Amino acid sequence: MLNRFIIRLLLSILSIFSGIVVVQAQSASPSEQEKTAFKRPDVIPFPAHNPYTLEKATLGKMLFFDQRLSGSQNMSCATCHNPSFGWEVPFPTAIGAQNQPLNRHAPTVLGVAWGDTYFWDGRAKTLEEQAGGPIENPDEMNQPLDELVVRLDSIPAYQSAFKMVFPNVGVTEENIKKALATYQRTIVPNISSFDQWINGSDTAISDQAKRGFRLFTGKGQCASCHTGWNFTDHSFHDIGLSNNDIGRYEVDGSTEKNRYAFKTPSLRNLTQRAPFMHDGSVEDLDAVMAHYISGGIDRPSRSSLMTSVELDTDEVQDILAFLNTLTAENEELILPILPN
Ligand code: HEC
Ligand code: HEC
Repeated sequence: MLNRFIIRLLLSILSIFSGIVVVQAQSASPSEQEKTAFKRPDVIPFPAHNPYTLEKATLGKMLFFDQRLSGSQNMSCATCHNPSFGWEVPFPTAIGAQNQPLNRHAPTVLGVAWGDTYFWDGRAKTLEEQAGGPIENPDEMNQPLDELVVRLDSIPAYQSAFKMVFPNVGVTEENIKKALATYQRTIVPNISSFDQWINGSDTAISDQAKRGFRLFTGKGQCASCHTGWNFTDHSFHDIGLSNNDIGRYEVDGSTEKNRYAFKTPSLRNLTQRAPFMHDGSVEDLDAVMAHYISGGIDRPSRSSLMTSVELDTDEVQDILAFLNTLTAENEELILPILPN
């Protein structure tokens, strides 16, 4: 009698536990809504005005890594957008051709194919338009484009490569920009453990990271700006950092909200890319979290989506565990052999 009672008791306890296990297993998988919101796109969007060809991307890659694109022939795009550092550089602000620090941190070029506008303040509308900026800027590569055309055209292998990619046209300012833009669109973040989880592999990320993801999209309110698979709304916000750079306001002064506003960066491969923010003023991810908990400087321009969020130490650790799952292993990058 007693035995039977004990067995029944044990069975009911077991069923309670198995009930819990079922509930946990359900929330361990992404919901259909989360799957749709965070699913990686299947293809890279190439614009009709500059369609992809393998040859064009290969030529663009040579140009990206070629120091002959700069006035003193000592600096390439990769000097500041270094693949080993998440396609940026580990300094607060990038260092220019004259060896002096620039005003802003070099942003990653990972995933730029999906960008809406370029630069921290969005002043360039396309990657083609963007590419001319750093080459000509006296503080950056300091190389007038018309002279660059002459230089590249005098290098026989470049001359023939441009002729092959752009038949009957060859080396022009436009074609240099088109090739650079095409290559950069192929710089795509690899599949991370977060992507595997979204794709249905329930054990790809830890329970802590899953909790962190729910805090990121829920209580932490991070996903009001860091939306979608690339974790950016492509919009501009003042998140209350202390600085004198007015950001988006210089490009579009039509609303006070644009003052001190900068483009929401993608959070992919974040752990390869410190320091953070447009001025590189935030040293590491702990400091990023401390900033969001404080809510930053309360001023008229500060985004209404920025409220100080109450996250305890465990919750901060959960969010950090989630952010870690956004880093994918780097594919081996084969550097191009540059033409002579
Ligand atoms: C001296 C360092 C330096 C060099 C060299 C450099 N960049 Fe940059 N790059 C930066 C900085 C700093 C910014 C941000 C500037 C701003 O927002 O005002 C930037 C921004 C960008 C962006 C915008 C990314 C985004 O998401 O908005 C792209 C794309 C880019 N650079 C590509 C290139 C290419 C292509 C080259 C070579 C032709 C190049 N860069 C050379 C420092 C550099
Ligand atoms: C109001 C929109 C908004 C919200 C909410 C928001 N962010 Fe951001 N985030 C931005 C913008 C804009 C920047 C760049 C700001 C700058 O450089 O001035 C940024 C920068 C970052 C960076 C630095 C990335 C880099 O490459 O420099 C990290 C990390 C980050 N946010 C994580 C978070 C987390 C975690 C949360 C939630 C606790 C959060 N963000 C909430 C808009 C937002």
